[in-house]
Amino acid sequence: AGYVGGPTMAVLADKCPFLNIYVVDLNQEKIKQWNSKDTSELPIFEPGLEQIIKRVRGKNLFFSINVDKYISIADMVFLSVNTPTKTKGVGSGQASDLRWIEACARQVAKSAKGHTIVVEKSTIPVKTAETIKIILKSTEDSDDSNLKSFSILSNPEFLAEGTAINDLENPDRILIGGEDEESMNHLSKIYEQWVAPTKIIKTNLWSSELSKLIANAFLAQRVSSINSISALCEKTGADVNQVSSAIGADSRIGSKFLMAGPGFGGSCFKKDILNLVYLCNYFGLPEVANYWKNVITINDWQQKRLSEIIVEKLFGNLTDKKIVILGFSFKAKTNDTRESPSIYISRYLLEEGAHLIINDPKVNQKQVDNDLKDDQFFVPTLNNKNSFGTWEFSNNLEAAFEKADAAVILTDWPEYKKINWKILFKKMRKPAWLFDTRSIVEEKVIKDIGINLWKLGSNC
Ligand code: UDX
Repeated sequence: AGYVGGPTMAVLADKCPFLNIYVVDLNQEKIKQWNSKDTSELPIFEPGLEQIIKRVRGKNLFFSINVDKYISIADMVFLSVNTPTKTKGVGSGQASDLRWIEACARQVAKSAKGHTIVVEKSTIPVKTAETIKIILKSTEDSDDSNLKSFSILSNPEFLAEGTAINDLENPDRILIGGEDEESMNHLSKIYEQWVAPTKIIKTNLWSSELSKLIANAFLAQRVSSINSISALCEKTGADVNQVSSAIGADSRIGSKFLMAGPGFGGSCFKKDILNLVYLCNYFGLPEVANYWKNVITINDWQQKRLSEIIVEKLFGNLTDKKIVILGFSFKAKTNDTRESPSIYISRYLLEEGAHLIINDPKVNQKQVDNDLKDDQFFVPTLNNKNSFGTWEFSNNLEAAFEKADAAVILTDWPEYKKINWKILFKKMRKPAWLFDTRSIVEEKVIKDIGINLWKLGSNC
């Protein structure tokens, strides 16, 4: 009942009224939220999701904690659990932790009846289907009555947060990997209710599993490529947005995913690339592993480099300085902060002793506190913990800018495009700085106000 399972099954139920869909989860609280009468309390916010839930919940879409019961009556079971990066043991920091996938496979093996098609939806390392298959087949063989049998398919999800419903309703492609043609056709027929058959790509299991990782790796690579060029633009006087438009006009390159910024965040990109790096090393391909590892190296460097620029512009000293952070989610239109560049940049600035006022239209104070306190992935640059700064959360921009020395735009929220800088600038301590890492502020608007503007990827 998470970010993939919930929205995907809601759209499936909406498009296929002849199917009964049961979303099951061990997390009681989550199921309660999915079932709550007030649909504004759903555990996930995605534009369009609430309307779909109102249409199909209780009709052919049900949410329950009764996992075994619904596995036993299912013809098809989708596994949509999380596969985070391992934090200890073999492959720590790179390999995916498959404990939940394995637990799911064991539960399906135990409770399924008759023939069941098991579909991997989670992003998982190549050859995970093999593990699932071994677990499922072991019960097939040991079941005396021999009434159980399984087919395994891979059907990765390509939805992006904030556009999940649109991505599901109008996918670029549907990928179905498997060995058993009949099962693949069953799944294909479901998608054919609303997706053109030409968009449904059928491959073997391993190609399907790998394609998901590689799609994310290529997307992240584009972001790192343009971010590396943003630094070169700042040195040479070129403008990264002009370079993006110029190269994106080449239809072989394409214009999407070429926006320079503070680096990619989100739950998938870093995790999937680390996983790819692990796989390449495991299969004895260190050159390939290093190539992809650099996509992450550039991403980390971009965040460090931005933080250093802020420190340098503020006379190399942030102690007792007030900095407004505009945006804490990893991109606009989501409250998700996982791997958000704002976390890393805030931590760098805190380490220099800054006082941060953090603003975000969707993220709340509790989340900010959790992210900044949790030092599991803390990347220290100095060892001087004594100079560690402080932070507070504010919804009130005018109050936040009172005597602030600088503001840093880190998330591309449309709200920030509408800011009246003239009013806010008056409240700031002079000389005041505005650091725009998302190309939100127009130079001509800010020109006569007197605020010092630094724009990522230009020599402004
Ligand atoms: C991504 C993939 O797009 C999706 O297909 C996959 O299933 C999950 O991972 P998501 O994490 O929701 O989706 O975010 P996405 O919109 O792809 O953005 C990822 C990050 O890259 C964000 O931090 C965004 O700000 C950044 N980005 C994206 C850029 O910095 N520049 C760009 O041009 C595009």
